[in-house]
Amino acid sequence: MEIIHFEHNKQAAELVAKWYDSPPLAYVHSFGCQQNVNDGEKIKGVLADIGYGMCDSVEEADLILFNTCAVREHAEQRVFGNVGALKRLKKDKPGLIIGLCGCMAQQQSIVDKIRESYPFVDIVFGVNGIDTLPQLLCEKIAGNKKRILLTPTERAEVVEETPIRRDSNFRAWLPIMYGCDNFCTYCIVPYVRGRERSRRSADILAEFKELVAAGYKEITLLGQNVNSYGKGLEEQIDFSDLLNLLCTVPGDYHIRFMTSHPKDASRKLIDTIAAQDKICNHLHLPVQSGSDRILAQMNRHYTVAQYLELMDYAKEKIPGITFSSDIIVGFPGETEEDFEGTLELIRKVGYMQLFTFIYSKRSGTKAATMPDPITRKEKTDRMARLLSVQDEIARKLVADMTGQTQRVLVEGSGRDEGTLSGRLTNNLVVEFTAEPSLVGSYAMVHLTGSRGTVLKGELV
Ligand code: SAH
Ligand code: SF4
Ligand code: F3S
Repeated sequence: MEIIHFEHNKQAAELVAKWYDSPPLAYVHSFGCQQNVNDGEKIKGVLADIGYGMCDSVEEADLILFNTCAVREHAEQRVFGNVGALKRLKKDKPGLIIGLCGCMAQQQSIVDKIRESYPFVDIVFGVNGIDTLPQLLCEKIAGNKKRILLTPTERAEVVEETPIRRDSNFRAWLPIMYGCDNFCTYCIVPYVRGRERSRRSADILAEFKELVAAGYKEITLLGQNVNSYGKGLEEQIDFSDLLNLLCTVPGDYHIRFMTSHPKDASRKLIDTIAAQDKICNHLHLPVQSGSDRILAQMNRHYTVAQYLELMDYAKEKIPGITFSSDIIVGFPGETEEDFEGTLELIRKVGYMQLFTFIYSKRSGTKAATMPDPITRKEKTDRMARLLSVQDEIARKLVADMTGQTQRVLVEGSGRDEGTLSGRLTNNLVVEFTAEPSLVGSYAMVHLTGSRGTVLKGELV
């Protein structure tokens, strides 16, 4: 596999410096998942590398980039709403450059729509164009190009050494693989992100070491399906091997990862989490549905029984482990009985947290051609029932933690004045009174109670 190394873009930096009287400002907003947010950090890194400063409002910006998500219709509508609102800004500030990138830009229909209906958008590039951004900007500002709307591309290689400007100085995203080969029938991701490509373990390890050395406490390994890490690499390595390799790096940190696919999550993975102190005792294992019939229609390649068996194994091997999941409500043809299967499954597993979505039709996917007779009203009713069952489960699990003393990573302010919010290794959140200087470090907190699904505690 070819690996492209990003070369420091001196030429682009010189051009940007010449073009603007003072360093230009960029506003970059990421709308999607953690991979998308990490791409946003790389976009900011590349822009900083060629002389852009960052700003937090579109009004101040000389360059506005929307890094988009296509996973559900709602995500796309939000982006179009935000883009539409920029028309006025462009009128007042003709030199303003407006760009759209990310997963939406990987769809030809979206690029066409921008071309026709959003003439004030100057640049469109997909998920594989981050390292070419300096060149695009140069063509736009100095080449007098009116608009550069790239057609979606797929790249088979892995781009290493892209500059990055991370949003946090104690929590970091670390992609280990890109793309997805699973083609779940509802999902657009394989079409917009392309085929699975794993990074070489040596490159991951090098970045991991840099993060630990820079003082990062929480490192989250990212991929659409981390459990199939290693596929297609010359080296013989799987995800558990990679975790074991990373855990050899000395330092004060912990590891999270997402997302796992149940069909590839193995007992070996559970044993690895059990054996390694640095890996958090939390597993995000999206199940999507509790009906075997629907799981087959979704092309998920596991049954409810197989899923539950793995969860039971994890509960047995990893004391205190918590689970979270993604659920789709109202997949085409989902019956009341199918839905009740989902309720039964969530009761059996006892999830600490659920990310729930009403099925959204994505054109080009297989499910988009399946008959979908269920009304919107039925779907929203099912969603409400699901949320109420889950709320009860989570409240009880959270309340049961009271009395323990746990190490937490302090993340920021809590909801009440003077409080901070920290995350336990099992991914629960606790609020407690303490000095803001603790943010970004570990603290020991005694858990005294809960409010909804958030714990209350006292600093030890
Ligand atoms: N690769 C990850 C998640 C990718 S998308 C995984 O397999 O778990 C995140 C979640 O969005 C999915 O788990 C699914 O629950 C939801 N999702 C994806 N496509 C969707 C659609 N068309 N409608 C509703 N929810 C969807
Ligand atoms: Fe989408 Fe399925 Fe791939 Fe996840 S595993 S990104 S849900 S196709
Ligand atoms: Fe959305 Fe793309 Fe992530 S479609 S969920 S931003 S991979």
